[in-house]
Amino acid sequence: MSSRPFNFSAGPAVLPDEVLAQVAAEMLDWRGSGMSVMEMSHRGPEFSEIAQTAEADLRDLLQVPANFHILFMQGGGLAENAIVPMNLSQLNASGKVDVVVTGAWSKKSAQEAARYADVQIAANGAATRYTDLPAAAEWQLRADAAYVHVCTNETIDGVEFHQLPDLKALGSDAPLVIDCSSHQLSRTIDWSRVGLAFGGAQKNIGPAGLTLVYVRDDLLGKALPICPSAFDYRVVADAKSMYNTPPTFSIYVAGLVFQWLKRFSYAGKTGLAAIEQRNIDKASLLYTALDQSNLFENRVALHCRSRMNIPFYLRNEALNGVFLDGARARGLLQLKGHKSVGGMRASIYNAMPLEGVQALVAYLTEFETQHG
Ligand SMILES: Cc1ncc(COP(=O)(O)O)c(C=O)c1O
Repeated sequence: MSSRPFNFSAGPAVLPDEVLAQVAAEMLDWRGSGMSVMEMSHRGPEFSEIAQTAEADLRDLLQVPANFHILFMQGGGLAENAIVPMNLSQLNASGKVDVVVTGAWSKKSAQEAARYADVQIAANGAATRYTDLPAAAEWQLRADAAYVHVCTNETIDGVEFHQLPDLKALGSDAPLVIDCSSHQLSRTIDWSRVGLAFGGAQKNIGPAGLTLVYVRDDLLGKALPICPSAFDYRVVADAKSMYNTPPTFSIYVAGLVFQWLKRFSYAGKTGLAAIEQRNIDKASLLYTALDQSNLFENRVALHCRSRMNIPFYLRNEALNGVFLDGARARGLLQLKGHKSVGGMRASIYNAMPLEGVQALVAYLTEFETQHG
C-alpha cells in the first residue's frame, strides 16, 4: 500500500487506502461483469446486489431497527434542511419546528426550515460563541412542535452531543431529527431517541453525491404538496431508493467502506465498536496535546468536544501561515480552519489512522519548541 500524506480535510475527506485500491482494481471490470460500476444500470442484477449489500451492511453496523428505512438520496445535508421540513413539518398539522442552534450548521438548518415551517429557536449556543451546548433542561420546546432538529456534530465549531437528548424526559413527544453528517458511522446511535437522521456521505462514508437518510416508518406519508416526488420519503422508501437514478458509484464505494468497517479491528474490538474506540483514542491524543500547549488552544467545553472535527488556534495568529506551510511540507494536508472561524481544524474521521494524529501531535510539539 502506498504511503500517502495524512489528509485532515473536513469533507470530502480521507478514505481508507484499502478501499481506494479496491475501487481502482475493479474500475474497468467489476467482478467479471465486463462493466465499470459507473456503467451499470441501477436496475440491473449487478447493481441491485451492490445496493442491497450496502444497505444490509450499514443496517448491521449501526444496528438500525427494522422500523427504520435507510434511504439513499442526493442533495447533501443542505438539501435535507429543506427536504426534512417538507416531509415532516405537517406530521401533526402544526407546521411547527423547534431547532436547537449549536453552531453554523444548525443555524443554517433553522434558516432553511423557516421557508417551509414555523420555526422557533429552542435554544442557542451563540452566547458562548458555540463553544458549549445549551443545557437540554433549558430548551424551550413547544408541546405541539412537529419535530425538534439538532445537529449532533457541528463540523465547523467542533461541538458534539456525546449523548442524544431524551425529548420524552424533557416533556416533548416530538420526534428528534438529527443532522449527523460529520460523525455518522463514527459511533453508535441510540435509535430509541431518534425519529430521523441524515447526513452526506462525504466524510465517513464515501464520495460526495450520496446522502443517507434513516427515517422511522411512522413518520412517512405527510409530505407537503410542494415537496418534489423524488424528495418525498414515502415515495423513495416505497421504491427502495430507486425512484430515480441513485448516485450509483457513490453507493458502491460506500458499500466497500462498510465492508472495511465490518472487518476493522482495534484494541480487541471489531466493527463499529473498534472504530469508535480508535476515534476516542485519536481525539484524546490531540486534545491532550492542545491542552498542554502554551501556543495552541481548543476552546470547546470538555464535555462536548467533537471526536471528529477539532478546531484549534494559535494564540499568536500571525503564525498561522508558517504553521500551515510547515504542516504541508510534513505531509499533513488541509488543516486550515473554516473561513468563518479562522485558525486550524483537524478533521480526524474514521479513515484517519492513529499514525496521522501522532504525526500531527509531533508537529505541534516541534512547532512549539521552535516558536514557543
Ligand atoms: C453538519 C453538517 N450539516 C450539513 C452539511 C452540508 O452538507 P452538504 O455539503 O452535503 O450539503 C455539512 C457539510 O459539511 C455538515 O458538516
